[in-house]
Amino acid sequence: MEEIIALAKRRGFIYQGSEIYGGLAGTWDYGHLGLALKNNIKNTWWKRFVLDRDDMYGVDAAILMNQNVWKASGHVAGFFDPLVDDVKTNKRYRADHLLLEAGVDIKGMSLKEMDVVIKEKGVKSPEGNALGDVRQFKMMFTTHVGANQDEDSVSYLRPETAQGMFVNFKNTLDSFHPKLPFGMAQIGKAFRNEIAPRDFIFRTREFEQMEIEYFVNPNSWEESFEHFRQQVHAFADDVGLTPSKIHDVEIAPEDLAHYSKRTIDFEFDFPMGQKELYGLAYRTDFDLKSHSDASGTDLSFFDEETKERFIPHCIEPSLGVDRTVLAVLTDAYSEDEVGGEKRVYLKLSPKIAPVLIAVSPLLKNKPQLVEKAREVYSILKKEFPGRIMFDDNGNIGKRYRRQDEIGTPYCITVDFDTVEKDQTMTLRYRDSATQDRLSIEQIIDSVKKAI
Ligand code: GAP
Repeated sequence: MEEIIALAKRRGFIYQGSEIYGGLAGTWDYGHLGLALKNNIKNTWWKRFVLDRDDMYGVDAAILMNQNVWKASGHVAGFFDPLVDDVKTNKRYRADHLLLEAGVDIKGMSLKEMDVVIKEKGVKSPEGNALGDVRQFKMMFTTHVGANQDEDSVSYLRPETAQGMFVNFKNTLDSFHPKLPFGMAQIGKAFRNEIAPRDFIFRTREFEQMEIEYFVNPNSWEESFEHFRQQVHAFADDVGLTPSKIHDVEIAPEDLAHYSKRTIDFEFDFPMGQKELYGLAYRTDFDLKSHSDASGTDLSFFDEETKERFIPHCIEPSLGVDRTVLAVLTDAYSEDEVGGEKRVYLKLSPKIAPVLIAVSPLLKNKPQLVEKAREVYSILKKEFPGRIMFDDNGNIGKRYRRQDEIGTPYCITVDFDTVEKDQTMTLRYRDSATQDRLSIEQIIDSVKKAI
């Protein structure tokens, strides 16, 4: 993980948030290449889950919402983490994490039971000190909207994008008149005041989610649940994750979130262990029903075929963007030896690599090579918008090393044969570090097949 954090900073993927002021815990800033990687991941998700289907409707809801949304959703009353203090240092920890680290099975444990076990077993803080009482810690960030700072002006930074879809369910019905089943899709920021942000971008206080709320007839929820289980795996394949590193974990009934009747966590083999990457939940009619009751707006659906009116049930695949970035980076990180020298490279899928092709002149002080390389660069830029880099920094060996480190799958070098002989150029493959001599048309064809 240390190597990956260092590479991410050195090469302009991810920096500590507010770094020049000493940072702000649980926040990270994406640089030019990290942003490109993130955008490619989000576009891949949007393509699979929205553009390639006929049953999805996109939404981009406001992050700030009426406080009643969060009362109806159950978050105001129940979105807490179990908190415990080190009595000497006053440092705060997640009680469930400390118990897990102490080898205790915490399945279905209440706050009170955690407190009892910590005391009985004498579980200590990581500094070796005694722990205080386990209590609830509110995870939503609270703010006030407008000039007044009273109960009525309270709002929250959303802890999930999902509610932005439930509150727009009726708008979507009225605008598009979809038949069941249909889904709503959203990509956006979510915020949680995590007690212990940790493991780089794995657990942060500000992150992005890619969520679908898929509305179904309650009789057929299992079919859609299975469909989205497969779609989540297909998406993981799209972004190049190693299938054997993903594990479907059925959540025990006593550990389900308040809205869920069934949940599968997709766990991934991260460097710090097997941890949750994504979730898939059967949210029943919990949310639409709660919002119907609380807002007084009828959120039922009339099925023209069966002439039945009912509140649809909901299947929710929920995917974290930042966890995808971390999984992809840790899976892609590779070391080998090329020409007797140690090499670090990111084996990123060509579908999401921030730079798809880097174009270089063999020598940067030969105008005819630079001019030709610029011409090749312009042609490729039109074919693969936003994914081509012109690189004439340092010698060719250093350029390859740098491109390997940022995961560029292809490097093209324009040399004297290109301009003086046959217009062909070298295409170098990142993973094998081997080269072919090809025309630009052949290169475009072969790269198009890979993305
Ligand atoms: N709407 C359902 C929901 O939000 P969740 O399991 O709490 O469910 C879904 O979150 C996904 O969001 C997780 O699987 C993970 O990918 C991502 N996620 C949750 N908390 C996160 C955090 N603190 N930092 C980064 N990603 C997070």
